[in-house]
Amino acid sequence: MLENKIMRVLNNKRNKTPPVWLMRQAGRYLKEYRDVREKAGGFLDLCYNPELAKEVTLQPIRRFGFDAAILFADILLLPQALGRKLWFETGEGPRLNPILGRKDIDNLQNIDVMNGFLENIYETVRIVRSELSEEKTLIGFAGAPWTVATYMIAGKGGDDQKAAKVYMTRNPEDFRMLIDKLTLATIEYLSEQIKAGAGVVKIFDSWAGALGGTYFKNYVYEPIKKISQEIKKRHPEAKVIAFPRGCGANYKSFCDLKFVDCIALDSTVPPPWIKKEVQNIKAIQGNLDPIHLVTGGDELLRQIDYITDNYNKGPYIFNLGHGITPDADPRNVEILLKRLSQ
Ligand code: CP3
Repeated sequence: MLENKIMRVLNNKRNKTPPVWLMRQAGRYLKEYRDVREKAGGFLDLCYNPELAKEVTLQPIRRFGFDAAILFADILLLPQALGRKLWFETGEGPRLNPILGRKDIDNLQNIDVMNGFLENIYETVRIVRSELSEEKTLIGFAGAPWTVATYMIAGKGGDDQKAAKVYMTRNPEDFRMLIDKLTLATIEYLSEQIKAGAGVVKIFDSWAGALGGTYFKNYVYEPIKKISQEIKKRHPEAKVIAFPRGCGANYKSFCDLKFVDCIALDSTVPPPWIKKEVQNIKAIQGNLDPIHLVTGGDELLRQIDYITDNYNKGPYIFNLGHGITPDADPRNVEILLKRLSQ
């Protein structure tokens, strides 16, 4: 198989110019996305419709020629497949019926039921792969157990993970049970995506930065270690990207994860520090602040150059530090791509 630009990085090699894709690259900043989304009905209808989900997965590749497509789905489909109720409140984001106690954790569905529920997602992976050229990587993904647990316990997103932390400290055994169940389910979910054609899987731990010390070790580091290890055991050729967002100095500890091939960075970690402490051990991905795709101008160019100047001696994939926002200007994405190819 061809070693495309992203695979070169994940094999720890450099490219002349960095490969690039953007978190949330299929989304509301694109008119063609908004059109398909309207046709689908709701966001979840779009996720579970393989033809339309394929369409929006490929839209940013057609428009911008990114080096990777990322499966169009959501990290919260997994808890839904495990039996929790999920819906999206317009303008507010995701809602779930919150986990209230041990019974709710015991009653989570088994892996066969989960996989049956997610069959259309695997179908999307299959048809995207069949329409994508070999130069492009297809990335599958899941939320990390801790981040998914925060939504399952609070019943919604939010800036503080208080509900999950209260549950974790008051009911450590139940919480451990939930994390273990999510770890096993995530292994199966990612494994099915790889079987369907995803060459790379990314584990999103969006709220990793909310935990420190032994909590970080037990609920962020260890579950990702277990997932990456098992994925590599089952699929030695697959690559794993981990995104412990906001974890600061703990980024360095991720270098010890033997089965993680690339560490995705948020915008708060300084490139010179990452270059010295992380990139000489592992390939990295990141970390432009998404605000610059809204505001553009000379500052956008300066910030792109700052990142490339720091990282271009080693293996890296250019990306944002978090998802592109609905108010981003697609013309700024074009400016970014042009700058990177120079
Ligand atoms: O393009 C891609 O990156 C692939 C698809 C993707 C989505 N969500 C689509 C989506 C991916 C990889 C995700 C991951 C995801 N989902 C995360 C982890 C990454 C991160 O942002 O930290 C999280 C925490 C979620 C949960 C989630 N889904 C939230 C909090 C929201 C609401 C916020 C928002 O942007 O509206 C979603 C909705 C969502 N997921 C949208 C998209 C395109 C917007 C839905 C719409 O079209 O209205």
